[in-house]
Amino acid sequence: MKIGIFDSGLGGLIITHALKESLGRYDYLYLGDTANLPYGNKTKDQIYEYTKKALRYLFENDCKLVIVACNSASADALRRIQQECIPNNWPDRKALGVLIPSAEVAVRSGKKIGIICTVATAESGAFDREITKLSKNAELVSKATPELVGHIESGDYASAHKDLKRYLDKLSASGVDTLVLGCTHYPIIKNEARKIMGEYVEVVSQDEIIPNKLKDYLKRHPEIETKLSKNSRMEFLVTKKTMANQKFASKLFDSEIYLKKVMI
Ligand code: DGL
Repeated sequence: MKIGIFDSGLGGLIITHALKESLGRYDYLYLGDTANLPYGNKTKDQIYEYTKKALRYLFENDCKLVIVACNSASADALRRIQQECIPNNWPDRKALGVLIPSAEVAVRSGKKIGIICTVATAESGAFDREITKLSKNAELVSKATPELVGHIESGDYASAHKDLKRYLDKLSASGVDTLVLGCTHYPIIKNEARKIMGEYVEVVSQDEIIPNKLKDYLKRHPEIETKLSKNSRMEFLVTKKTMANQKFASKLFDSEIYLKKVMI
C-alpha cells in the first residue's frame, strides 16, 4: 500500500520531494486539488467537503496513510475527518496533518511564536489551539498573508519578497523568537524569510521537519509501516491540468514529473 500526499494544489510537491529524499523507498501517490485551488480563501465547510473527497479518493486508491500537506485543510477539516469519517469508513487508515508537527517543533524553543499562513488557517484558530495545548507559556501571533501564494504561483518573486518583508517586519517588531512558515508554498521563500528575520529567530519550514516526523511515526507504528510497499514509485495526480501547472510542478519537485488528471 502507498503513502498518499494531499494538497489543495501543487505546493505540497515541495514536502513530497523532501519525503522522497529521506524516505524514498516507499511508494507515494500525490493528489493536488488544482480544480478548487486556492483553499485559503474558502469557507470551513467547503474545505471540509473538498478534503473529505480527496481523502476518500486516496484511500480508495490503496493509500494506507495520507499526509495532509495543505495547512488550510489541516487546520479546518482534518480533525473532523479524523473523528467522524475515518473511524466509520476507513478504520484501518490514517491521515496526518502538518500543523501539529510544526507546533511541536515551534514550542521547543519558542516563547513568542509567529505564523504566516492563509486566511483560512489564521481564522481557524487551529494553530493557536495546538500551541496552547503544548505549552502554557508560549504566545502566538498569526498573520494571514493572502497575496503570497499567488505571487509564488505566477513566479513573481520580486512581489513575493516585497510582501514577505512587509509582513515579517511587523512580526519582528512584535518580538517573535520563532516563525512558522504555515503554508505549503512557503519553503520556496524560506531563505528570504531567514534573511529578513535574522539569526536569532528560528524559522520552521515544513519541508525540513515533516520527513523526520513521518520517520518517527512509522517507527512507532509498525502495524502501518509493514503494510507499506517499497518500490520507490511516485505518481502525481491533479484535478485540473494546464501547461502552466505541469511546468510549475516540475519546478517545485525539482525534476521533470508528469501530472495525470483525474476526476475525484
Ligand atoms: N495549500 C495551501 C495551504 O498550505 C495554500 C494554497 C491554498 O490557498 O490552497 O494552506
